[in-house]
Amino acid sequence: MNAFSVKGNVLYSTSMDKISAFPHHYLVCEDGICQGIFEKLPEKYKELILYDYGNRLIIPGLTDLHIHAPQFAFRGMGMDLELLDWLDQQAFPEEAKYEEEAYARKAYTIFADALKKSATTRAVIFATRHEKATELLMDLLEDTGLITYVGKINMDQSAPEGLKEPSAADSAFRTFGWMNHISGKYRYTRPILTPRFIPSCSRELLEELRQVRMTYDLPVQSHLSENPEEIELVKNMFPEAKFYGDCYDRYDLFGNRPDGEFKFTGRTVMAHCVYSTDEEAELIRRNGVIVAHCPASNMNLSSGIAPIRKYLDMGIRVGLGSDVAGGQTESMFRAMTDAIQVSKMYWRLVDKKAKPLTFEEAFYMATVGGGWFFGNVGRFEEGYAFDALVLNDERLAHPQQLSLNQRLERFVYLGGDLFGIEAKYVAGRNIV
Ligand code: GUN
Ligand code: FE
Repeated sequence: MNAFSVKGNVLYSTSMDKISAFPHHYLVCEDGICQGIFEKLPEKYKELILYDYGNRLIIPGLTDLHIHAPQFAFRGMGMDLELLDWLDQQAFPEEAKYEEEAYARKAYTIFADALKKSATTRAVIFATRHEKATELLMDLLEDTGLITYVGKINMDQSAPEGLKEPSAADSAFRTFGWMNHISGKYRYTRPILTPRFIPSCSRELLEELRQVRMTYDLPVQSHLSENPEEIELVKNMFPEAKFYGDCYDRYDLFGNRPDGEFKFTGRTVMAHCVYSTDEEAELIRRNGVIVAHCPASNMNLSSGIAPIRKYLDMGIRVGLGSDVAGGQTESMFRAMTDAIQVSKMYWRLVDKKAKPLTFEEAFYMATVGGGWFFGNVGRFEEGYAFDALVLNDERLAHPQQLSLNQRLERFVYLGGDLFGIEAKYVAGRNIV
């Protein structure tokens, strides 16, 4: 058994609106699992190796529920476009390059290295439609020690010839090939079914993907109701669907239907949900789909502001995504502050009943909210995965006394992840 304890100023969400602080407490990890938090180390743990982090802050690791690995190469460039033009002019031309192994290796090495150094401990990732490059990305991520889901994209229409797949059957065939090839290969890296979004999937492809999901009980990731033109396109393409999300649901690609024949254990994450109607939001809730809120991307692509308060009030699960390169940075600290800031503008300009998100709520979404996609992740409670960040805020000088909660809030707002991550544990392994 691999066991150890760590000591420091521990903070984590004990409810959605409370971050509890435990000064100079001990955490115990056994085989990657948290055994609890203690003011005094229980006798039975006294012999364990102790990593004493002194006055540092220790928080749960953060989950990035939505990020595009191939888009990392052009982050921070070509931002002055809306979604559909941005896809045509920025995302698709870059993604086409991943056909070539040498380029994919170069780009994905940079991506994996950056993600390893970030505040992210777990991530749900889009690759491209190329199965070889996707496997290469999985190899590189496995070496980082991060825990991730990675998806080979499926797309058989509405993209340039070189990038869209020649047919639905070909797309499915390659997905089966990819699944078989990686079977049993990784410990920390898992596959996820990834229809790009409805405009790039024919009905035939969605039907094929239903079969793939049934075969492997896969989790699913995609985009939903992100941009007004996109939604109009979906309406025209799918007149039989009641709303955007219904297109996925008709093919068993939208969480778990309570009355569905097949019970999937693999979960579903939908990015954005900026314009989900009440009916769509209700289906999200009913099918247990989790929303990946990506505020930076929604600002950069002028998509809009997702009504996250409404979703939380409805009992919908919400986590945060960086959505690189719609979002310019992989920083989940930045995603937290962006989520709070856009919610304030939504309250001020759109809906006075939608109370702005608080720091506590944003922290909850980045830890517990997104962590749910992976199981028991995001808290320091017994039975939860031991994912932890040790934060050094010494560089942020201050004249006054600060509480632990104040130190955490300012570390997040001031971008402390750029310089102050001293250790990062993923399921009990310190990876940086
Ligand atoms: N919808 C379909 N593809 C994409 C993508 O790559 N990024 C974003 N933000 N939305 C999408
Ligand atoms: Fe995206």
